[in-house]
Parts: sequence; structure tokens; C-alpha cells
Amino acid sequence: MRDFLEMKSRGEPIAVLTCYEVLFARILAEEGVDMILVGDSLAQVVLGYESTLPVTLEEMLHHTRAVRRGAPDTFTVVDLPFLSYQVSNEDALRNAGRTLKETGAHAVKLEGGEEASCDRVRALVRAGIPVMGHVGFEPQSVNALGGARVQGRNSDEAEVLRGQALALQDAGCFSVVLELVPAKLAGEISRELRIPTIGIGAGVECDGQVLVLPDALGLNPSFSPRFLKRYAALAEAAHEGVRHFLDDVKERRYPGPEHTFGGEA
Ligand code: KIV
Repeated sequence: MRDFLEMKSRGEPIAVLTCYEVLFARILAEEGVDMILVGDSLAQVVLGYESTLPVTLEEMLHHTRAVRRGAPDTFTVVDLPFLSYQVSNEDALRNAGRTLKETGAHAVKLEGGEEASCDRVRALVRAGIPVMGHVGFEPQSVNALGGARVQGRNSDEAEVLRGQALALQDAGCFSVVLELVPAKLAGEISRELRIPTIGIGAGVECDGQVLVLPDALGLNPSFSPRFLKRYAALAEAAHEGVRHFLDDVKERRYPGPEHTFGGEA
């Protein structure tokens, strides 16, 4: 966590990607990503749900263990899923504690910057559990927010957001995600906070950036929000590979002699 504070003070951007399984975790580690987030976006991009709400703590732990096996030396944050921390500090402690204990991850992330969320953060930090905050668009509140919309567009909302980010810092968060926040506001918040901000749809002045890996690698071509930049075209590559395999099998081109074992019989 000290490294991330130092990166902020040096003005060095922090590069974060989400990850949910071992092979991509290995790639992220080999490329030197600064931090892995096992996001509850797992619900949508791996498990096929409409929102993050249905994913369970057990599913988060299962996928985090796979990520840790692929990237054992990379700082890993895990999203606490919906209803694993909202009810009480005791729930939050038990579930965040399990997350660190059973996966070897380093920190948890929770959404919200109002007093109840700050209280959860204080309880976790008191127990020695590093916490990343998350304000702006909070996907676990998608039903209350009426969809994935930019937050903090008018001055009242902007002040609430700014106050929430500061309150999370005061509660002990080591970093805070700003999701779908106007760039100017995100820049101001980033300069006001001592801890690093990690933006997604929040402009270039955040201290770091995070993207959902399958979106960033073009595995999910039907999802194209304005903030997303695609760094690969994996869906196209996968379609092509599958098509070639089907053709080869149907035409008896695969397996060839080089893929075939000899023997005496
Ligand atoms: O679950 C997730 O992937 C996230 C990122 C969008 C920050 O929380």
C-alpha cells in the first residue's frame, strides 16, 4: 500500500486490471500490472448475470484463489459482493476476513461513501484489513441509481461525491475507485486526496486507471461505453480459431501426422 502512496507522490500512474482466473492472472503478472482487482463484475463478464448483485462470496473466493495461483506476487484486491457487508460491521469483518484468509489476497473493496460504509471501513481497518473505497457510479446500487449513469454532474451531487471520497480517506481507505465521474471533478478529488484515486470513466487526472479485462481485451464486443478503449480483439480471434477448428475437423485436416502418436499395433 505504501508503494501506491509513493506512486501517487511521484506522479506515476497506477495501472489496474480486473481478473477472474489463472491464465489471465499469469499474463497480467508477467506484464507487470500494478494491481489486480477481482471485481464483482465477475457476475456479468464470467457468470453471465445482468448485474453484479447475484454473485456470492463463495464465487468471489473461488475465482480469487485461481487468480492468486496465477499471480501470487501481484497485489490483489477483492470486491466484497452485494450483501456481504451492508448489514453490519460484523458481517463485513467476517466476510472480508474470510476473503484474505482463504485466498491470500491483500485487500478488499467495498462500495459507498456514506456514513455506514465509512463505519465498515473503520471496522475493517481496525482489524488490519486494507480497504479500497468505490464511489461515483456504484454498480451494487444500480437499481437505486436507475442505471449506469455519470454521477456528480451538478454541483450538489459533486459536493456529495467529494465529501464521500474524503470521508473514505479519513475512515482509513488506502485508495478509492471513482467510477463514471466527470473528469474535472475526478481531477479535483484526486488532487485533494492524499490516497490514490483509481478511475474508470473518470478522466485522465485520476492517480490510476482500471478497466474490466474482458472489455479491455475485446472479448465483450456488445459492451461499448464511451470510456472504454479496446486493447485487443480477442472475440474476433476466438471466433476465427473456433471456425478453423470446425473446418479442420469436418475436412479431416486435424489431427495431422504431427499431432498423431505412432505405435506398434
Ligand atoms: O467489479 C469491478 O470490475 C469493478 C471495477 C469496475 C472498478 O468494481
